[in-house]
Amino acid sequence: MKKQLFIIANWKMYQNEQAVESFFEEFAYNNEAVQVIIAPSAIHTSLAVAKKTENMAISSQNIASEELGALTGEVAAEQFAEQGVDFAIIGHSERRSLFGETDEMIAKKLYLAKISTMTPILCVGETSEEKAAGQSVAVVLRQIAAALNGGVVGENMIIAYEPVWAIGSGATPTTAEIKMVVDAVRGAYGVETRIVYGGSVSADNVYTIISEAGCDGALVGKASTTAESLTAICQAATR
Ligand code: PGA
Repeated sequence: MKKQLFIIANWKMYQNEQAVESFFEEFAYNNEAVQVIIAPSAIHTSLAVAKKTENMAISSQNIASEELGALTGEVAAEQFAEQGVDFAIIGHSERRSLFGETDEMIAKKLYLAKISTMTPILCVGETSEEKAAGQSVAVVLRQIAAALNGGVVGENMIIAYEPVWAIGSGATPTTAEIKMVVDAVRGAYGVETRIVYGGSVSADNVYTIISEAGCDGALVGKASTTAESLTAICQAATR
């Protein structure tokens, strides 16, 4: 049997409540070969959990780097988990670059997700300067090792390879470049390691990326926010 693919929709801060409602009214894709994971804004978590259908799960876009406590404006892993959120995106490059998340904070978040009932989706990837210097694989392996902090990847974790320069830019690495990173990660952490690609994924490139780079799916931002566009990506991924 073919392995299940993950299509992860990172809705960032794109939607208001009406758009979230419309998505769930219109999205009818359901295929057991594809686990659709929706990551809405934290404020829409309960709505998404209530509306999700079969073969669909909900993710947070981030979690706090501490357990419950005096952290104004943050949401703890435990709070998401008790709402029925099954996955947690951790270390997205926007969190790293815009909100100053360090490797140390990301390691704490990964640990807190792991001890909750959530499956972490750990984002890693090189900048354009690091790519130009031929450091893509080294950066990815360093970021994963820092996040794990001596822990293991194991079954209950997904790695998302997202080159910083490919996010929202319309540019993607070649499939050979993605495969090089995917193979290096599996070489270091085991052939069963679940790894998806993210950065300017669309219905036009998703099949080639998944089939040629051998990854387990895709993390999609901009192209994931409408039912029509996410359906097209899911269909193209399994064509
Ligand atoms: P994009 O974003 O698909 O809009 O490039 C991907 C991401 O940031 O996860």
